[in-house]
Amino acid sequence: MPVHSRAPGRVLIFDTTLRDGEQSPGATMTLEEKIEIAALLDEMGVDIIEAGFPIASDGDFEAVSLIAGNTRNAIICGLARANENDISRCWEAVRSAARPRIHTFIGTSPIHRRYQVQLDRDQMAERIHDTVTFARNLCEDVQWSPMDATRTEEDYLCRVCEIAIGAGATTINIPDTVGYTVPRESAGIIAMLRERVPGMDAITLATHCHNDLGMATANALLAVEAGARQIECTVNGLGERAGNTALEEVVMALRVRNDVMPFTTGIDTRKIVNISRRVAAVSGFPVQYNKAIVGKNAFAHESGIHQDGMLKHSGTFEIMRPADVGLCESHLVMGKHSGRAALRNKLAELGYDLGDNQLNDVFVRFKSLADKKKEVFDDDLVALMQDTSASGLEYLRIEALQVTCGTVSPQAKAELALSIDRDVRTVTAHGDGPVDAAFNAVRALYDHDARLELYQVSAVTAGTDAQATVSVRLEENGLIATGQSSDTDTVVASTKAYLHALNRLRVRRYQQAGIQASGPAELS
Ligand code: KIV
Ligand code: ZN
Repeated sequence: MPVHSRAPGRVLIFDTTLRDGEQSPGATMTLEEKIEIAALLDEMGVDIIEAGFPIASDGDFEAVSLIAGNTRNAIICGLARANENDISRCWEAVRSAARPRIHTFIGTSPIHRRYQVQLDRDQMAERIHDTVTFARNLCEDVQWSPMDATRTEEDYLCRVCEIAIGAGATTINIPDTVGYTVPRESAGIIAMLRERVPGMDAITLATHCHNDLGMATANALLAVEAGARQIECTVNGLGERAGNTALEEVVMALRVRNDVMPFTTGIDTRKIVNISRRVAAVSGFPVQYNKAIVGKNAFAHESGIHQDGMLKHSGTFEIMRPADVGLCESHLVMGKHSGRAALRNKLAELGYDLGDNQLNDVFVRFKSLADKKKEVFDDDLVALMQDTSASGLEYLRIEALQVTCGTVSPQAKAELALSIDRDVRTVTAHGDGPVDAAFNAVRALYDHDARLELYQVSAVTAGTDAQATVSVRLEENGLIATGQSSDTDTVVASTKAYLHALNRLRVRRYQQAGIQASGPAELS
């Protein structure tokens, strides 16, 4: 059944966390992480997963192929520029999917035509015809995007959309590539295309918004009201610059305000919080506290008036229930006497279903945390699980760390035993404070040019025995990598976060080597 033959109010959710989201500087994910996120997206009911940009690197190709071969329900889509090489490579990667899609694009605005692809209007029109025809001869499901559509002249946009439909495109996606559009215009473009382009009603119209002016969600919703039936989005709004439309925002807006926006999606909203946490953990991009739907404070009520209202009736200050997005309000607090079964149950409530081996590993870490903290709260367990996933990248790992600091000596001292590819080396280093000393020790043992761009500490829960979550961002020759870790000892958390970022930087270096091997693949 073609994807466009469905109930009129049904909106398809096209998730591009693994492609546009992964393009955020520093948000690189490993192959295993991409496979895990794809499985979660499929489970939550995403209709189309854009799994990557196969020509960009061998790593991207492998990720898209594996996701294509392993996904049960969703359409698996790969991205390709408007040339036969890209499109063939994309087809190779997605063809094993039960429902494959090729997504090909070209920048159609005057500035893109002139500076990026150097084609005049007629040359570009011909290129679109030829490449969409080529893609359609390979695959039944072809999506075409006029990149920077919202800054493309209306007449030309209509002309190229008509050509793409004539050449066999089954979805036309309208990207607001630079996040420039306002909601009224977003609706206007969709309405205009539906009115002027022959054949538009026989295909699916999609909206793809960037959030540079903070209007991505509003723009996507207004596009839907005007007739778009596919929203392109990412979990947590991850993406280049200010990111893309956030999946959780559009899905919950359509659900909560169904009275004024009578549209439905196929998303199981109870899976939202879990996938948000996993994406934050694997991308290294923490979710801001006051982020709509998935921020730590999205359901917290601090002021007296709000708390009073909540106690009387939750509807006084809540427009959706925490459980609707998968936030469980369990009263089971864990501690050092809790056993394996209780831990398994609690983690399942939090959205983590673990196999026996993984549970054993987490249980050891949980016991060590419970020895340090009297009560282990849900947020502690989430931090622990995020740390567990970070520990998969273990080229560099702490074997032992002892730090001395305080008012007595002028400098803090760190004694570090560091495992580098399983070879343990030791050093003593000094610094201005304990974190500086520990980072100097890492630098003494593992020589690198990475520059520390961000160092951020936050407490996971209240109390002086709270765990600290530390985020670190590093930059090395234009490559960016982030790392995160949590521990009741802030210096240990900081050092682990630093090593996590260095491990990711190493992966990024290899990925870049792959990109260079197959030519530059720049896009927005
Ligand atoms: O923002 C954009 O234009 C894109 C295209 C590749 C669809 O991401
Ligand atoms: Zn984009």
